[in-house]
Amino acid sequence: MAVNVGMPKDVPWHGKTVHTGVYKQTVTGPRMVRRLNIDGDGQGDLGGHGGEQRAVLVYQTDSYRFWAKELGRDDLAPGQFGENFTVDGLPDDEVCVGDRYRIGGAVFEVTQPRVTCYRVGLRMGEPQMAALLVSHRRPGFYLRVIEEGEVEAGQEIVKVSTGPGQMTVEEIDGVLYLPGHTRQQVERALRIPALSPGWQGSMRTLLDRADSDVSGGSSGSAGLTAAAGAPPPGWPGFRPLAVTGIQPESRSVFSLSLAAADGSPLPAALPGQFLTVKVRPEGDEPPLIRSYSLSGEPGTGTYRISVKVEPHGAASNRLRAHLRVGDSLEAAAPRGTFFLAGGDNPVVLMSAGVGVTPVLAMLHALARDRSTRQVWWLHGARDGGEHPFAQESRVLLDALPNARSVIYYSRPAAADRQGTDYTEASRLSADRIPGLGLPTDADAYLCGPVAFMDSVTAALVGSGLAASRVHTEVFGAGPSLTPGVKGSATATAPHQPAGPAGAGPSVSFARSGLTVPWNDTQESLLELAEACDVPVQWSCRTGVCHTCELALMSGAVDYSPEPVEPPADGNILICCSKPTDGIVLDL
Ligand SMILES: Cc1cc2nc3c(=O)[nH]c(=O)nc-3n(C[C@H](O)[C@H](O)[C@H](O)COP(=O)(O)OP(=O)(O)OC[C@H]3O[C@@H](n4cnc5c(N)ncnc54)[C@H](O)[C@@H]3O)c2cc1C
Ligand code: FES
Repeated sequence: MAVNVGMPKDVPWHGKTVHTGVYKQTVTGPRMVRRLNIDGDGQGDLGGHGGEQRAVLVYQTDSYRFWAKELGRDDLAPGQFGENFTVDGLPDDEVCVGDRYRIGGAVFEVTQPRVTCYRVGLRMGEPQMAALLVSHRRPGFYLRVIEEGEVEAGQEIVKVSTGPGQMTVEEIDGVLYLPGHTRQQVERALRIPALSPGWQGSMRTLLDRADSDVSGGSSGSAGLTAAAGAPPPGWPGFRPLAVTGIQPESRSVFSLSLAAADGSPLPAALPGQFLTVKVRPEGDEPPLIRSYSLSGEPGTGTYRISVKVEPHGAASNRLRAHLRVGDSLEAAAPRGTFFLAGGDNPVVLMSAGVGVTPVLAMLHALARDRSTRQVWWLHGARDGGEHPFAQESRVLLDALPNARSVIYYSRPAAADRQGTDYTEASRLSADRIPGLGLPTDADAYLCGPVAFMDSVTAALVGSGLAASRVHTEVFGAGPSLTPGVKGSATATAPHQPAGPAGAGPSVSFARSGLTVPWNDTQESLLELAEACDVPVQWSCRTGVCHTCELALMSGAVDYSPEPVEPPADGNILICCSKPTDGIVLDL
């Protein structure tokens, strides 16, 4: 019915600038369709759109008629949904992934449904459009170009072959985004070679999660977000734990042993998970909320966290100076998706400085289970005085039949003995990786400064490990993901929002160390976080893609709109929720 193209342009949105190719114009006459684009067409954000697998977007006139009625709109012109081909026929509940069609001089293959993204809502002036497309099961789909050629409106669409597996666009969209899919559906989807690698990855995640279901059966949209992969938290909100021991571990690190006040066993955490605590400052200031990875053996009924005293660090200095055995510490249940996965493949545990804590818990778990897995323990410290758990980790490694360890001291002290205390007098950095001969089928767990993890991840992938097998834990705010927004990479430290303070319940961003009152002028927690420059991740902004899913440590929220599929137990979607009382977020 129409061929629509458009080059990306800058569009103002929410006080920001979005670079987007969603604005398409209908063109007349033949247009050359090439492997990556139709001539004159482009995408603004190649992370989410475009490329070989998403060269051409298709939307149907039948859906135009549906939306005109549903939204009460009489202004919907071809290209309005960001599509390149507006077609008569080819409904989402008939077209299958892998089907091939000839149009004019080109041949196409169906690769995946449309990506749920806020920009279709921006284009339409309907912010909830991304969620509506999924919930009404009218997403439209992408084509890969098998044979390049000219295409023109008015040409007949001829089916040349049917995809194996017979899975319609509507069905596979529902498998990923809606509740209630079956394992057989996921396996069937994975047998379709034409399915784009991105969707294959999501399907594999769904299958992996089903296989190692630690989520208590309520993992939300497990194919969409790592946040859905953890089990539900062991208790709601914060509860007091008793400090039963304080132990120095190095010049700057000390451990706190914690137990239930009544001596009952605390719920087991997974090796690698963290605890969030409230630290009472002096005077009437609100509590400081900080997270600490559990460093002890999981499943003992007690917890251990290990804190590095940072120069000028508010919570770490307060804990060291004022906490005593017998005191109580308010803690939220262990959480986090950085945990040791099962299996019998090799494990690489790599840490720098106090980043040792979560991987030490993993080492404890492996030693407790007398694991026969190949275990690599790689740790970087400044010197012996700044090397916490040196003896403890040696004992654990000795208990493992198949473990090896390389300890790097960047500036060994005179008393440090090479061969005993440390292996190499150098930093543990990316350039050490290629020479190690690490097994390429290993799962690697990394914790340390962000620059260390970024460079080591690249080196591990360069050495042959699959990127999906490299797992990292950031001791602070995570990276932001703001598709298409220009200038969003500039890092501004989180701050109180501009304008008059809100009068609503308090919202604590735990990783950013910031507490602000809720302001009813904000549409969602996501908007409040953005107003504070707290790093956030999102894509659809309307409760369907789960990119914004994260842990809610305490408090409760209301949704508007309701998520298409609820998040995992203990998590929330911040793009469509507001607090109903004081909340603490893992953000
Ligand atoms: C999932 C997770 C797990 C974590 N696990 C651990 C762990 O196992 N062990 C651990 O020690 N930490 C861990 N952290 C980090 C921890 O939560 C705190 O961020 C850390 O203890 C610092 O808190 P603070 O209040 O002492 O420092 P803050 O007051 O929050 O200061 C943050 C940084 O700014 C610097 N700073 C503050 N004031 C000044 C100033 N006036 N001038 C110059 N610099 C300044 C401090 O030195 C510090 O480096 C983890 C964090 C997360 C999110
Ligand atoms: S951004 Fe998509 S669900 Fe929140």
